[in-house]
Amino acid sequence: MDKKIKVGVVGIGGIGRGTHLDAWTTNPNVEVIAVCDILRDRAERASQKHGIPHVFEDYKDLIALEELDLVDICTPNKFHSEIAVAALNAGKNVMCEKPDAINNEEVLKMQQAYEKSGKLLMVMRNNRFTAESAFVKKYVQDGKMGEVYYAKCGWVRRRGIPGKGGWFTTKELSGGGPLIDLGVHMMDLTIWLMGNPRPVSVVGSTYSKFGESSTKADTVNATFGDAKADGIYDVEDLATGYVKFDNGATMVIEFSWAENIETEDRYYELMGTKAGAKWHSGYNNGKLSIFGEEQGITTNIEPNFKKSGKREQHAGNLDHVVDCLLGKAEPIFKPQQGVDMIKIISAIYESAETGKEVIL
Ligand SMILES: NC(=O)c1ccc[n+]([C@@H]2O[C@H](COP(=O)([O-])OP(=O)(O)OC[C@H]3O[C@@H](n4cnc5c(N)ncnc54)[C@H](O)[C@@H]3O)[C@@H](O)[C@H]2O)c1
Repeated sequence: MDKKIKVGVVGIGGIGRGTHLDAWTTNPNVEVIAVCDILRDRAERASQKHGIPHVFEDYKDLIALEELDLVDICTPNKFHSEIAVAALNAGKNVMCEKPDAINNEEVLKMQQAYEKSGKLLMVMRNNRFTAESAFVKKYVQDGKMGEVYYAKCGWVRRRGIPGKGGWFTTKELSGGGPLIDLGVHMMDLTIWLMGNPRPVSVVGSTYSKFGESSTKADTVNATFGDAKADGIYDVEDLATGYVKFDNGATMVIEFSWAENIETEDRYYELMGTKAGAKWHSGYNNGKLSIFGEEQGITTNIEPNFKKSGKREQHAGNLDHVVDCLLGKAEPIFKPQQGVDMIKIISAIYESAETGKEVIL
């Protein structure tokens, strides 16, 4: 029997309470020994539900637990870097929810602490952990797409602003709107599928048009975060942009919490010299399509691929962390990829303000 990884979770809100604690407590190699939330009753309830011995209001007390192996950060974005750096400096491994951090300075602090510590730093990249993503990744790696030189990705919603008036829509706490909230998910997936080229320049625009709208949300994805009547709304609700990479490839992006479209859609499309791949949550029942050619004729394939039997999405990513700590896997995520991601996002915000291209 392998040693159990002792985990402490900081931030017992929507994603911490549900997705993370459910995944950790059903992994046989994990023991959750501590929970922490500035709202103590949230941590108390989780402790009672899962039989977790330690309850804290201050993350520093959780990090100070000697037997703790891993700190899992599920707080609002602003606190990711501060808590990750403190945990790494204390010799703990870190799992952190996305986005990595709210700006370049904060993400670089995380990377430096990681390099000094020799510990694991993993940031949630749940979309890499699906059967479709694994299939496309291998398809590209096997050379079946040829050179992937262009991509589009996005996550657009008709009405889906999370926690309106609360931390999600307060730039100081969130770092921004859908670009930083949803952009990390689909830009990361797309860049990873493209083989992790490095970004070299960015141009983008942002719009904030739905702060006054009271129309009901039409997606469960807007249920994250606590809404606050008469709270702050100083973030964008649509961001568009264009990213160039060091290998000459380019990527077009769009991310929205609200715009007048038919329905929510999360997607990527990859264009390679031998084939293209298209996956949209809101198109063709979420089935993956591969567009190629054989013997002078174009082909459209909906590939049949086996599920791996492993858990997918968030639970898959958390299981992967455990496998890494048990020496059974190499981390799929490198902190440099998080630095590049936050650089792209910050540069799109800068470009939206200045109207100019930003060279990275
Ligand atoms: N990967 C995904 O699919 C996904 C989905 C939703 C949210 N998230 C991310 O998870 C994080 C949390 O989002 P959420 O929707 O659960 O938010 P939430 O507001 O529901 O929960 C955050 C919790 O953190 C607590 N908290 C705030 N500051 C704290 C601090 N300094 N120390 C300890 N606890 C603190 C709050 O009291 C709250 O209970 C965000 O970074 C968000 O981007 C990721």
